[in-house]
Amino acid sequence: MNRPRITLKIATSLDGRIATAAGESRWITGPEARAAVHALRAAHDGVLIGAETAVIDDPELTVRTEAATARQPLRVVLDSRLRLSPTSRLMRSLALAPLLVIGARDADRTLAARLEAAGARVAHVPRGLDGLDVEAALDVMHTAHGVDALMVEGGGRIAASFVKARLVDRIEWFRAPILLGGEGRPAISAIAMAALADAPRFTRVAVREVGPDLWESYEREG
Ligand SMILES: NC(=O)c1ccc[n+]([C@@H]2O[C@H](COP(=O)([O-])OP(=O)(O)OC[C@H]3O[C@@H](n4cnc5c(N)ncnc54)[C@H](OP(=O)(O)O)[C@@H]3O)[C@@H](O)[C@H]2O)c1
Repeated sequence: MNRPRITLKIATSLDGRIATAAGESRWITGPEARAAVHALRAAHDGVLIGAETAVIDDPELTVRTEAATARQPLRVVLDSRLRLSPTSRLMRSLALAPLLVIGARDADRTLAARLEAAGARVAHVPRGLDGLDVEAALDVMHTAHGVDALMVEGGGRIAASFVKARLVDRIEWFRAPILLGGEGRPAISAIAMAALADAPRFTRVAVREVGPDLWESYEREG
C-alpha cells in the first residue's frame, strides 16, 4: 500500500500516562517540549488525532512557532460519527490551516454537509475492528490530499490502532517528571498482544533534555 510515513508523538508522565482518569492532559510537559512539538508539526504534511481528543482537548493543532511558517500541515480527525462540533477550535481556525474530517461510510450526510459548508474537507472510509479502517484512511490522506509524512498525536486508542496495524515508523516521546498512576489514561490502549516475542520493537535514535522533560526518538526495527 502507498501510505505516508508515520510518526507517533506522545507526551506522557514518567509512568507512561497521557492524561488523568478524567481526561485532563494539559499540560503534562513543559513549554520547551511543546515548542519542539510545534517544530515537529511543521516538518509533517499532516497531523492526526482521534475524535475523543478532538472533543476533550478541543485543540487547534496548528503550527505555532516564533518563526513564521509558510505552510500548515493538513489537520485530520478520525471521527466515524462526524461529531466534531462546528464551534470547535479546529473548525474555528479553518482560515489558518486546512482540516480533513474522516467519517464512516454510514455517517450522517447532514453532518458531513454542515462541516463542508463551513470549509472543512470530509472523507468517508469503511469501519475497521477498532474504529475506522486506518489503512483506508491513510490511503485517502496520501492519494487525495498529498500527505507523505503524517504525525499521529493521539489519544491512546488512536495510537493503539496504528501500533496494532504495525504502521508506526518513528516515535517522538516526550516524558515529563511526574507520575499519574494506574488510573491515568495509557499512552497506548490495548493492542491485543499475548507474547513478549510479538511486541513491536523500536531502536532509540536520539535522546535530549528539553527543559524539565526528556525527548526520546525511536525508529521502527526491521
Ligand atoms: N498527552 C498526550 O500526548 C495526549 C495526546 C492526545 C490526547 N491525549 C488525551 O487522550 C485522551 C483521549 O484519548 P482516547 O484514547 O480516549 O481517544 P482518542 O484516541 O483520541 O480517540 C478515540 C476515538 O477516535 C475514533 N476512532 C476512529 N477510528 C478509530 C480507530 N481506528 N482507532 C481508534 N479510535 C478511532 C473513535 O470515536 P468514534 O467512534 O466517534 O469515531 C474513538 O472513540 C484525552 O484525555 C486527551 O487529553 C493526550
